[in-house]
Amino acid sequence: MVEIGTDLDRAAKYLENEQLVAVPTETVYGLAGNALSENAILSIYKVKKRPSFDPLIAHIGHLDQVKSLAINVPEKLQGLIESYWPGPLTILLKKSETVPDILTSGLNRVAVRMPAHSMTLSLLEKVGFPLAAPSANPFGYVSPTTAIHVENQLGSSIPYILDGGDCQIGLESTIVGIENEEVVVYRLGGLPVEKIEEIVGQVKVHLNQSSNPVAPGMLKSHYAPKKRLILGNIEVLLKKYEHVGVLSFKEKYDAKISCTLSADGNLEEAAKNLFGSLRMFDDTAIDAILAEEVPDIGIGKAINDRLRRAAV
Ligand code: TXA
Ligand code: MG
Repeated sequence: MVEIGTDLDRAAKYLENEQLVAVPTETVYGLAGNALSENAILSIYKVKKRPSFDPLIAHIGHLDQVKSLAINVPEKLQGLIESYWPGPLTILLKKSETVPDILTSGLNRVAVRMPAHSMTLSLLEKVGFPLAAPSANPFGYVSPTTAIHVENQLGSSIPYILDGGDCQIGLESTIVGIENEEVVVYRLGGLPVEKIEEIVGQVKVHLNQSSNPVAPGMLKSHYAPKKRLILGNIEVLLKKYEHVGVLSFKEKYDAKISCTLSADGNLEEAAKNLFGSLRMFDDTAIDAILAEEVPDIGIGKAINDRLRRAAV
């Protein structure tokens, strides 16, 4: 049976023994294991039922750790690191030989991120090795933003969940890399594109939607609840569908179950509430979720990206 607690020594012990621990971050909860241990990495893939072609992010607690994981850091990416770490930004870097091939699914780049959560930063410091951590949900499902979300789905497969409260951002990190000296965004996430452009100038947004993506988080259908999600104009959709729930941005609608992401129209609040709301609908008897896009600016772009993928 899984235990939920705040005991860092205990969490560290499990990790040192190549076992897995769910950890809080500012984006979503991660399913963590020693990123330099093939056994731990294999367990992550198994527990998540994740295909082995989908690589994992290495989480670090100290900037020095980049040097052991990556061969070099291009100047533009260095600028982003200085501005936004710790924070919701994952960077793809040419991997060093220290990094096990199964961490990167055989790719020559490794994804690295320094999360902004004091508990997990302390844990990283305690263990001294980087932590491989995908979102702590079964492959393809909505990411967890509370310890209880993790317990509901992975409770029988892991020994410990480190409880760091509700995730402050609620959406996964933004993933960037560099191609021909140009910064490319591969996954929209907690750090808005506008913030990245403030530091490095215009970037290319390359959200692959093919069946063989650079990052499977780009798979067209991903981050999806079990209920069918229909995206559009809610008022119009309500005339067409029955037994539905409504997930709106700020307006409240007259439906069996109606949930607003942010009554004040605040995009950060909406991001924080998105995944919990999708999970809530999955536990109800409605046939489908009717949802609408939010303003396509700042973190709103990442919210819309997740809604579109959930709607496929
Ligand atoms: O916010 C986050 O990033 C959370 C927290 C726990 O840090 N983690 C997370 O991990 O969302 P995951 O595994 O659910 O999503 C990471 C994405 C995947 O779509 C994966 O394909 C991509 O990052 N990725 C990892 N390594 C990569 C690499 N070497 N090249 C391209 N994409 C990579
Ligand atoms: Mg994930």
